[in-house]
Amino acid sequence: MSKEIVVSGIRSTGYLHLGNYFGAIQNYVHMQNEYNCYFFVADYHSLTTHPDPKALKPNVYRVVAENIASGLDPEKVALYAQSDLPEIPELYLMLNMLAYKGELEKVPTFKDKVRLQPDNVNAGLLTYPVLMAADILIHRAVKVPVGKDQEQHLEMARNFANRFNTRYGVEFFPEPEVYRSNQETVKIMSLDGNGKMSKSENANATIYLNDDDDTIRKKIMKAKTDQGPTEPNSEMPDYIRNLFLLMKLTAPTDVYETFLGNFNNCNIRYGDMKKQLAEDMINFVRPIREHATELQKDEAAIQRILRNGAEKARASSAETIAGARKLIGINYY
Ligand code: ADP
Ligand code: TRP
Repeated sequence: MSKEIVVSGIRSTGYLHLGNYFGAIQNYVHMQNEYNCYFFVADYHSLTTHPDPKALKPNVYRVVAENIASGLDPEKVALYAQSDLPEIPELYLMLNMLAYKGELEKVPTFKDKVRLQPDNVNAGLLTYPVLMAADILIHRAVKVPVGKDQEQHLEMARNFANRFNTRYGVEFFPEPEVYRSNQETVKIMSLDGNGKMSKSENANATIYLNDDDDTIRKKIMKAKTDQGPTEPNSEMPDYIRNLFLLMKLTAPTDVYETFLGNFNNCNIRYGDMKKQLAEDMINFVRPIREHATELQKDEAAIQRILRNGAEKARASSAETIAGARKLIGINYY
């Protein structure tokens, strides 16, 4: 039986962090043996905010290096840059004819961007979900490992796929679903308790895969806590639950369970918990950081990986675009 097709992308807009790792990359690594995986650096998506042209290459290389350092094997998956597949913008154009201004204006991430960058509400921002749908549908993927924040975009990709199928009368695109490794999609909150860890906001409360030991220690020691619970088995506030989640993800089970027991018995000392978490986090991040730094020194190797990845991905995207052109009627010779 042929393997199911999986697509996912990460924007090259800054340093990768624990949210990207636990929300996305860890799933990529789990999936690479069992699925036919296409993972890409979403460099076109990063253009909505007009980045400095000189920043594109190091940003793209860093995302590639950090994915590999996190365990992704470019021999097993197609790892490529979005801009290396001209079929993606072609499909994006086709899908734009099936996307309506009204539905695009209602997307929450679009509304957020309008608030954040009111003087740069460009059409690329409005049609961001169409480009994302093209990224996925170009390989006719059925599973998409992404964090919770992307669920609405996936729903739109399903709508566009359906509209295309209905218009041209064949089940050409399957409906892509969010992939979850263990039921829930992980969301890593920022250490100050305000929103999620992210590449571009809350830098002092976000742990990057590139942070050195001391920086990690300082950020964790500053994480928001409180006086501790006064009733046994109290409900945890969000920011405390986040610290426990990070501990669960990076510390030995017995350490996690000891602190959880202390919380439930109201004798938790957050200072001690954070000291312990900092050391476990350092042990977790250090090998990834060191490996990614090494990889980035070898530009020729990264270029080889991107070229190979694009070649593998193009075989599938060329087939899809040929089929789509034919269905639309662009079939002249
Ligand atoms: P960012 O929001 O930091 O710029 P991207 O938008 O490039 O990151 O997201 C890449 C992947 O990482 C997506 O699958 C997204 O759902 C996931 N992700 C981003 N931030 C978090 C977070 N704080 N917790 C869980 N997953 C996240
Ligand atoms: N929009 C996604 C994000 O902001 C990144 C992305 C672009 C993506 N194209 C994709 C994710 C296709 C999965 C599939 O995180």
